[in-house]
Amino acid sequence: MESFYIETYGCQMNEADSEYMASILLSLGFEKAESVKKADIILVNTCSIRDKAEKKVLSFVGRVKNIKYTRDVILGVCGCVAKQEGENLLNKAPYIDIVFGPHQINRLPEFLNKVRNTGEKVIAIGDSNDYKRDLGTIYYPGVRALIPIMQGCNNFCSYCIVPYVRGREISRNENEILDEIRRLGELGVKEVMLLGQNVNSYGLDRGLKDGFVSLLEKVSKIEDIKRIRFTTSHPKDLTDKLIDAFSILDKLCPHIHLPVQSGSNKILSLMNRKYSREEYLEKVDRLRKVCPEMSITTDIIVGFPGEDEKDFQDTIDLYQKVRFDSAFSFKFSPRPGTKASTMENVVSEEVKQIRLEVLQTLQKEITYEKNKQMEGRILPVLIEGKNSKSHKELVGRTPCFRVTNVMYDEGNLDDMIGKIVYVKITKGLKNSLKGYLIK
Ligand code: 5AD
Ligand code: SF4
Repeated sequence: MESFYIETYGCQMNEADSEYMASILLSLGFEKAESVKKADIILVNTCSIRDKAEKKVLSFVGRVKNIKYTRDVILGVCGCVAKQEGENLLNKAPYIDIVFGPHQINRLPEFLNKVRNTGEKVIAIGDSNDYKRDLGTIYYPGVRALIPIMQGCNNFCSYCIVPYVRGREISRNENEILDEIRRLGELGVKEVMLLGQNVNSYGLDRGLKDGFVSLLEKVSKIEDIKRIRFTTSHPKDLTDKLIDAFSILDKLCPHIHLPVQSGSNKILSLMNRKYSREEYLEKVDRLRKVCPEMSITTDIIVGFPGEDEKDFQDTIDLYQKVRFDSAFSFKFSPRPGTKASTMENVVSEEVKQIRLEVLQTLQKEITYEKNKQMEGRILPVLIEGKNSKSHKELVGRTPCFRVTNVMYDEGNLDDMIGKIVYVKITKGLKNSLKGYLIK
């Protein structure tokens, strides 16, 4: 039996696309390879959001070249770098067989056949104006399933390449999404993570008002699904109705990823984010009023063109005010074709590095402190698996998405997977919690 290996870079949207490609290949009769070296089909799902992500892709492809010299392997590159580079990629790496963009995944079987039967290369990077997934190929992905509900983005933040590589917003049909979730529930999935670059605008392209909240209400009626999460929310589109949903819908977990990008109004305006720091802080207040347990995480870019010391201090000030549960911070990386890539007053690499370190050190302290505050509490944890480092520990997550290791030496660990159990938290660590099961 032929086997496949998928290497995934980038965001959860890419992870979801990779899971979907795996389900297509499994339904065609391929099996998952133990390692990249043993695979007959190697796919690389790429990310171009920052320079680093792109470099990693080229270095991976270079390593696969050596495998291709020894065996007859099909190498496909998909995702955002594929879409952006197209034929260029074949000039840089002529041993690639298939280059396909995010809108072309459904055609994967056709591409593989073409390469097998004719030996010709395939380049397919066109756009589609519909977003459909073939539900005939669903398989059990684990306790949590990633469910893309839309593709693309209309926001054009001045630094961001996503609208260029993933196109404009296209929402999936609501019934198809619900059908997929119901079927996953029947297979044993307990938690769904609804995905989109900006889920708050789900359905607008289909003429739906409050389409996202309405989708959440419908998902929460699906019996088998016990927890619902979503990502990502654009602060400008975070409506009161969505904030209220956190107190109304029991299954909606108290966690929101709300990228702020900068704490300076000057930089936010240059970034074309369409909200001010004051508006952001107001939304954070409202979220915490409606749901005091709310965990708030964010993304930040340091060293955006024009960011001076005062702007950076504004970001630090915002960090202190919000006290995020965790944060991803990045150095600004100019992306080809974006507005910010040609802006003046660029910040030096050195300054970017210093600012990144300052923020990361501050965030580490806050995250640790917040984890310590959990000590002594009893929290419901959805068990996702076993701790690979200890045969007496289960791993799961709290409602606010903290990884929790749970002592368990009473029976078969596998029987616990997929269950929500109550855990007394004994230790808050830097990136996780520890606890034991309460009967
Ligand atoms: N440079 C640095 N970070 C970026 N992001 C997006 N584009 C860039 C860029 N050009 C970050 C943003 C976004 C996250 C997914 O990646 O913070 O929220
Ligand atoms: Fe990029 Fe802005 Fe769209 Fe997010 S909202 S994907 S940062 S353009």
